[in-house]
Amino acid sequence: MADADKQQNGNLPYFDTSRPSIARTYDYLLGGKDNFAVDRTFGDRFINELPGSPVIAHDNRGALIRAVREIVTNTRVRQFIDLGSGLPTADNVHQVAQRYAPDAKVVYVDNDPIVLAHGRALLAENDNTTVIQADLREPKAIIEHPDTLRLVDFSLPVGVIFSATLHHVNDDEDPAAIVRFWSDRIASGSHVFISHFRSENDPRSQELEQVLQGSLGRGRWRTDDQILALFGDGFTIQEPGLVPAVEWRNDDAPDDLTDYQRLIAAVLAVKD
Ligand SMILES: C[S@@+](CC[C@H](N)C(=O)[O-])C[C@H]1O[C@@H](n2cnc3c(N)ncnc32)[C@H](O)[C@@H]1O
Repeated sequence: MADADKQQNGNLPYFDTSRPSIARTYDYLLGGKDNFAVDRTFGDRFINELPGSPVIAHDNRGALIRAVREIVTNTRVRQFIDLGSGLPTADNVHQVAQRYAPDAKVVYVDNDPIVLAHGRALLAENDNTTVIQADLREPKAIIEHPDTLRLVDFSLPVGVIFSATLHHVNDDEDPAAIVRFWSDRIASGSHVFISHFRSENDPRSQELEQVLQGSLGRGRWRTDDQILALFGDGFTIQEPGLVPAVEWRNDDAPDDLTDYQRLIAAVLAVKD
């Protein structure tokens, strides 16, 4: 998209190319092309300070793919709400879910306009999938959105995905209240997946938090207890609990993890 850095096509939503975007920087870390110079500069700064950043992004993505596969193959969940879905990449949630259950329905939500632009193109011929531009900190607007109401039957279990998103919600924005909003409205047997920056008392996590807060105004590395507390009451944590993302139900996980790989964790819980 380099040529588009200075150009805004009148048919596309406006993208602010003067500041890095989380979605575009993450795309850059994953090796994607849907990013601007400002995102690459920010991503490179991140890689300089945390050379394992691309590994963290890939580990996170791998855990998400395994979680969706596990949910669809082991349970009767056939509908997903992916909050902070990011730009389309390889093996998106609907592709993984529909591979095992062609009737699976997916509502993607992201507040970055570039996700909506690319998502619409990807999903043009998929009636069971939609992408909504909305802020996950305002869940009422998401649950009342006509596309959510069209695709999701809240009397049946749902898969709610917070993959690498709640660490972009600051403490004073009450991320636990966002999870609680959904847990109060989903049926028993619903699955909630969270992946999250994990501090593990590693001082680098505090330095990186300052980088993210300084550039984006958001980004929190939380302890394992703080991440688990996001679920609140009424959930049963599934095996293997909260673990580094690369280890989450991964038969091919390496025996020895790098320190970086310990800085992103994944966990799946079922509503009682
Ligand atoms: C690190 S990416 C993760 C993408 C994807 N969930 C994954 O795990 O591969 C975080 C995504 O969350 C989105 N995001 C961050 N804060 C958000 C908010 N308040 N509302 C909606 N989306 C948000 C960003 O735009 C970005 O696309």
